[in-house]
Amino acid sequence: MDILIIGSGGREYSIGLALKKDKNVERIFFAPGNGATDELGENLSINDFDALADWVEANGIDLTIVGPEAPLVDGIVDVFKKRGLTIFGPTAQAAQLEGSKIFMKNFLARHGVPTARYIETDSLEEAYKFINSLEAPIVVKADGLCGGKGVIIAQSHAEAKQAAGEMLSGNAFGDAGRSIVVEEFLDGYELSVFAICDGKDYVVLPAAQDHKRLLNNDQGPNTGGMGAYAPTPLVNDDIYAKLDERVIKPTLKGMEEEGMPFTGVLFMGVMVVKDEPIILEYNVRFGDPECEELMPLLKSPASELFYKAAIGDLKSAKIEFHDKYAVGVVMASKDYPYKNSEPAEIIIDEIHHEDLKENAHISFAGVSRGEDGKLYATGGRVLVCVGLGNSIKEAQERAYMLVGQVHYAGKQCRTDIAYQALKA
Ligand code: AMP
Ligand code: GLY
Repeated sequence: MDILIIGSGGREYSIGLALKKDKNVERIFFAPGNGATDELGENLSINDFDALADWVEANGIDLTIVGPEAPLVDGIVDVFKKRGLTIFGPTAQAAQLEGSKIFMKNFLARHGVPTARYIETDSLEEAYKFINSLEAPIVVKADGLCGGKGVIIAQSHAEAKQAAGEMLSGNAFGDAGRSIVVEEFLDGYELSVFAICDGKDYVVLPAAQDHKRLLNNDQGPNTGGMGAYAPTPLVNDDIYAKLDERVIKPTLKGMEEEGMPFTGVLFMGVMVVKDEPIILEYNVRFGDPECEELMPLLKSPASELFYKAAIGDLKSAKIEFHDKYAVGVVMASKDYPYKNSEPAEIIIDEIHHEDLKENAHISFAGVSRGEDGKLYATGGRVLVCVGLGNSIKEAQERAYMLVGQVHYAGKQCRTDIAYQALKA
């Protein structure tokens, strides 16, 4: 099978790595890929959806997998499907689950999926009224895609009103903020749970935990994610069962009933409050860096999972996972997440330790290949060191051993990834 992966991050690299190990896969392509994906396959510099579809047709590609949300929301799946090409991901209509927080919240309400109490509005007066009815902290969210920055956790009523005002005036996020969601703050622990869906059937992957803040102990600014691990012991069978019955099944049924069956990755941002899983948000793609830990836990051929989901035949797939743990530590550039950093050459020490060679690897993200053939850190999140083990502790130790082998000017990472699982 020949496969095209759309995207350029560590997430797409890790999908490529899983496919590379898969005997059913012959050629792998990335559009656009990054400075390291060309070691797994071939990078293409085609952006336009029609031009990509032309290329896929001309080159007999069997399956296209879409990594990031932007092309999904912009309709890449619709373009490919119209031309009879096999692609893994939701249509633009279904991708509204991520593309519009208002669509998502109203969908959850229509189908009785548990979520924080909220209003959606474009009126400042209405926003103020609802804010006054809540206790601080209060959550204010811009409707549209804001690159992960559109959520304000306001510590006071005044701060919430200010955030609502700045969003609604268009000053904060342009048109993405002209409608907002105001909701109650949920106090619990967060999970990232992923279901691979084929429109009707689904496979739930081991539950993960991300670390969104820049610094240890969840301090500092929000980032795209500084590390993740899976499976988390914070989920038990009861929570998985509640997610099945109250969240995933009603969502897939609801999407089908509303004429937009969901194919692709349903990424559930879950807050567990007193053992009850409540949906904070949906995304319609893998999390990054969660994907980097989940892909190596997949025991079944990755192509089978993605292909069968894309053609609506997950029923016939038997998907298995390794009985192991994975911990991924993001290594970021010096000024992440504030501003871009100067390109810095990456040097990776040769690994002699057999144990580390076998049980740890790097997923490359914000890297470029220089004209000198060397690898440079050029993005905010540069790479993810992933360790595997029979316990979270072992996986964590291996991930950090690998971190110690990687050098570039200004490297930064958290030193406590997976701490919630390991604290007493
Ligand atoms: P979102 O983009 O909706 O996932 O929000 C980003 C982050 O804000 C989440 O990962 C949570 O940590 C936090 N958050 C969002 N909504 C709430 C809420 N209702 N209560 C508490 N935290 C929230
Ligand atoms: N790691 C969270 C995200 O990808 O949105």
